Amino acid sequence: MLKVENLWVNVGDKEVLKGINLEIKPGEVHVLFGPNGSGKTSLLMTLMGFSGYQVTEGTIVFKGKDITNLGINERARLGLGMSFQRPPTIKGLKTRQMVALCSPAKEVPLVELAARLKFQDFLERDLNAGFSGGELKRSELLQLLAQNPDLVLLDEPESGVDLESIVLIGNVINELLEREPGRNKEKSTRERRNKRAKAGLLITHTGYILNYIDADVGHVLFDGVLSCQGNPRETLKCIQKMGYEECLRCVV
Ligand SMILES: Nc1ncnc2c1ncn2[C@@H]1O[C@H](COP(=O)(O)OP(=O)(O)O)[C@@H](O)[C@H]1O
Ligand SMILES: [Mg+2]
Repeated sequence: MLKVENLWVNVGDKEVLKGINLEIKPGEVHVLFGPNGSGKTSLLMTLMGFSGYQVTEGTIVFKGKDITNLGINERARLGLGMSFQRPPTIKGLKTRQMVALCSPAKEVPLVELAARLKFQDFLERDLNAGFSGGELKRSELLQLLAQNPDLVLLDEPESGVDLESIVLIGNVINELLEREPGRNKEKSTRERRNKRAKAGLLITHTGYILNYIDADVGHVLFDGVLSCQGNPRETLKCIQKMGYEECLRCVV
């Protein structure tokens, strides 16, 4: 699904990513841990193709196609989608209009999608204008539900979300990743896993979202360098016990 090779990225004068190698197979969900300022958001923004993130070396291959120099819109059409850590407010653009724009379909079941996030009352408001932390995250997920990407990049989807809404957010993320509880109930876990096609890369600061999402691989990003590939729950335990820096030395 995604293959990143020796990726070096500058933001302004600062070198933020230093030789990232990362492979995500169809059906896999990867989690990215790391302290503030380690480059987690920069990695997602670079994968999505935002200007300002200058690739100085390396390649990004998505579904077998080199997308290193493609625009954001082209990457989105190929099936790459992202939710922001801090999404912008757009005055004059209704949330309803934005969600419709995100969808490749002509007829978008807006109210039905919004109902899954208990977000019907927000459709007529300007995008993200005055939204609380949890509302911003639900707004982002609603746009992703409409887009239905094959690879979902999520930047701290649980930050600022209250304990009750986190269950809702976890359920919708599982749905985006074809991991919602209850689907294909009759099938065994192995069969279900084999059938999954959607993949995800999720940044979490607290690890709290892992209580609601079944993730496959965890990584630690420290000062622009990716290390410590392993079981996400084990990785989180290791960080909680010994701190991020120790993870560079520890092989899980
Ligand atoms: N537009 C920018 N101009 C200058 N430095 C930036 C810019 N964006 C990010 N940085 C710097 O790049 C580093 C990595 O930031 P970021 O990717 O947001 O980290 P994280 O998401 O891990 O907290 C930080 O030191 C940050 O200050
Ligand atoms: Mg960040």
